[in-house]
Amino acid sequence: VEIDVPPPAKGQVQVRNLWMSVDPYMRNRMNKGASYVPPFQLGQPLQGGAVGEVIVSEDSDFRPGDLVMSMLGWRELFNVGAGALQKIDPDGLPPQLFLGLAGMPGLTAYIGLCRIARAKAQETVFVSAAAGAVGSAACQIALINGCKVIGSAGGSTKIEFLREIGVDQTIDYKASPDLAAVLARAAPSGIDIYFDNVGGPHLEAALANSRPFGRIVLCGSISQTDRPARGPSNIGIAVSKRLTLQGFIVSDHLREMAGFVAEMGDWIKSGRIKWRETVDRGIESAPAALLKLFAGENVGKMLVKLA
Ligand SMILES: NC(=O)c1ccc[n+]([C@@H]2O[C@H](COP(=O)([O-])OP(=O)(O)OC[C@H]3O[C@@H](n4cnc5c(N)ncnc54)[C@H](OP(=O)(O)O)[C@@H]3O)[C@@H](O)[C@H]2O)c1
Repeated sequence: VEIDVPPPAKGQVQVRNLWMSVDPYMRNRMNKGASYVPPFQLGQPLQGGAVGEVIVSEDSDFRPGDLVMSMLGWRELFNVGAGALQKIDPDGLPPQLFLGLAGMPGLTAYIGLCRIARAKAQETVFVSAAAGAVGSAACQIALINGCKVIGSAGGSTKIEFLREIGVDQTIDYKASPDLAAVLARAAPSGIDIYFDNVGGPHLEAALANSRPFGRIVLCGSISQTDRPARGPSNIGIAVSKRLTLQGFIVSDHLREMAGFVAEMGDWIKSGRIKWRETVDRGIESAPAALLKLFAGENVGKMLVKLA
């Protein structure tokens, strides 16, 4: 839909979006009431994280040229009350990183690994969707914490990326019909932590290979999208091995964002954490970009570049 955007009113800021984030949770918001965020409304733009540049400001806290984060409808140019915007201090980082490693997906990896699983040095951590936005951050934060990391992803390009970022053992699950057996070979003494981005067969393989008192972080279950729900058939193992399975939602942990961004900024600038991104261009490419997440066509963070 094309509309005219008038000059901003007093207290408003006009923003031109530069980058839009494309995230798996958006698919769940297309189901009636099935998500932890309210469903999208028919006839309204999809909403999501975006980084933009202030064009005109009628608020004393913002100036033209400021970089801002918003969580509004997918759009190129808009006026909004200043309270809906968060200023970004890029501090030498590319602005789109605040939608990826230095933003919500990075914080998700950090919280899951460091707060929920409380990963310790020498532990063996298994990560699924390991070449994605959250997964690649989880792998590298685990490596920084001195863990041994096993990463699973689909296809040789992603496996190559995992090797580049220093993942100790890689599994191309699309070429591994018996995932539990492949994981057993990669971790003969079992895994201490499973960072679950996908659910389904990966979760079953992780249960089968967990050490006693292992921790399973339930971050997402993208493999179960648009399928009749399939519970792990071997969940009973959680009893005999005294496992802890814990889900979490990153939005409960936003108070940690500022500290995390500072730490992540240091890791990125010192080269300890690397990133990839998959960039589609133009707002018209956004629906196809969203579908790519479910076909595994993204490496690293999926983004739409607008300007
Ligand atoms: N709990 C939270 O607060 C929170 C916050 C953010 C994200 N998440 C969750 O974290 C997960 C990763 O999100 P992200 O933004 O980083 O996405 P992403 O990993 O960058 O992209 C999604 C990836 O999922 C993999 N995938 C898709 N279908 C699959 C299947 N059937 N089996 C196995 N893997 C499959 C694909 O990688 P392959 O090519 O390797 O299959 C795809 O590239 C998602 O489940 C998301 O919902 C949770």
